[in-house]
Amino acid sequence: MTRASAGGTALAAEPILGLRNVSLHFDDGRTKALDGVDFAVDEGEFVAIAGPSGSGKSSLLNLIGALDVPSAGEIFFRGAAYSGNADLAAFRGRHIGFVFQSFHLIPTLTALENVMLPALGRSWSAAAQRRRAESLLADMGLRDRLHSSPTTLSGGERQRVAIARALINEPSLILADEPTGSLDSANAEQVLEFLVGLRAEKGLTVVMVTHDEGISARADRVIRMRDGRIERAGQPA
Ligand SMILES: Nc1ncnc2c1ncn2[C@@H]1O[C@H](COP(=O)(O)OP(=O)(O)OP(=O)(O)O)[C@@H](O)[C@H]1O
Ligand SMILES: [Mg+2]
Repeated sequence: MTRASAGGTALAAEPILGLRNVSLHFDDGRTKALDGVDFAVDEGEFVAIAGPSGSGKSSLLNLIGALDVPSAGEIFFRGAAYSGNADLAAFRGRHIGFVFQSFHLIPTLTALENVMLPALGRSWSAAAQRRRAESLLADMGLRDRLHSSPTTLSGGERQRVAIARALINEPSLILADEPTGSLDSANAEQVLEFLVGLRAEKGLTVVMVTHDEGISARADRVIRMRDGRIERAGQPA
């Protein structure tokens, strides 16, 4: 992709994300969760990842999200390889927001505390973290539920808390693994609207694993996985 500079000259834009020949093997190589995956995602894109169960979708998202490291190949963030970084947690905390199918909220903390958790230890003050968490929850329509336990919230409300948590450190890349998979259709639609809105309102890049063809249809691009590889149109994976 290219973009025009102020002077009108086309500049090559660095993709926000690049994968080069990425593989992930388990059981001494007997299981190839990912087998030589190559693709790039541009800043501000909304990419859906689809494919049958076991095709490697979550493995792919976990590698992109620096929750795991590839067995081979490299992953780049704005042109810099990070898959071998010593401090993957710091990289993840700075750049990536994760949303999971089963929310992964801590039941003994309030909604507000869950959202503030990833900001612990960051340089901004506790008061500023709290204000930002409150504002994110209000954006998600949860102004009245700040002090509720996740156990008292509906699935849709829980997922909206999880989205607010994903945003607390101002990431540029949101990774969502079947974020609507545990929700009824009305809540799924609302959560999807919030995630799609992040791109429109904040310019965030969204990579979302989904089984839902309705969601894929709204993405800029669908990456289809099969047996740990990306399916290319017209040829076997
Ligand atoms: N920790 C692990 N140890 C061994 N094998 C694993 C591990 N994690 C994933 N796998 C295997 O890797 C393959 C890809 O799994 P993955 O979870 O990425 O699939 P998926 O496309 O997300 O499936 P689903 O749609 O069911 O969530 C599967 O064969 C799975 O059994
Ligand atoms: Mg999965």
